[in-house]
Amino acid sequence: MQKTVSRLAKILAIAAIAPLSLTAQAGEISNAELSATTCFQCHGAEGKAAGGAIPPLAGYPEAIMVQQMLDMKSGKRPTTVMGRHAKGYSDDEIRAIAKYLATLKP
Ligand code: HEC
Repeated sequence: MQKTVSRLAKILAIAAIAPLSLTAQAGEISNAELSATTCFQCHGAEGKAAGGAIPPLAGYPEAIMVQQMLDMKSGKRPTTVMGRHAKGYSDDEIRAIAKYLATLKP
């Protein structure tokens, strides 16, 4: 019985520490990196081509990406889904995401 209690105490101690270490790891991922993972659902894992009409984003030139995103956000460039998606980000967030995506290997 005593053994079971101390084993349980150990498990509880580990369970209490685990979320802390997870939080520390998440802190190392930038907001831009986190936002970019939402793009990969449509544009292909890691921004590499998913095939079809949706272009890959890895290594996409930063300045062109920012311009495209702002044009799609404002409606200057008509889109099917990207306009709605781009509206979800501030201009600063768009710049940060573009900067991050440009660093990925195509
Ligand atoms: C729901 C699916 C979906 C998601 C999520 C998505 N995209 Fe797109 N993206 C598209 C589609 C489809 C197009 C083609 C334009 C259109 O019809 O909307 C496109 C086009 C683009 C283009 C224009 C590329 C070119 O060369 O013409 C850029 C840049 C882009 N997306 C960036 C992003 C970024 C950055 C994110 C994440 C913040 C993102 N997309 C998330 C579906 C998506």
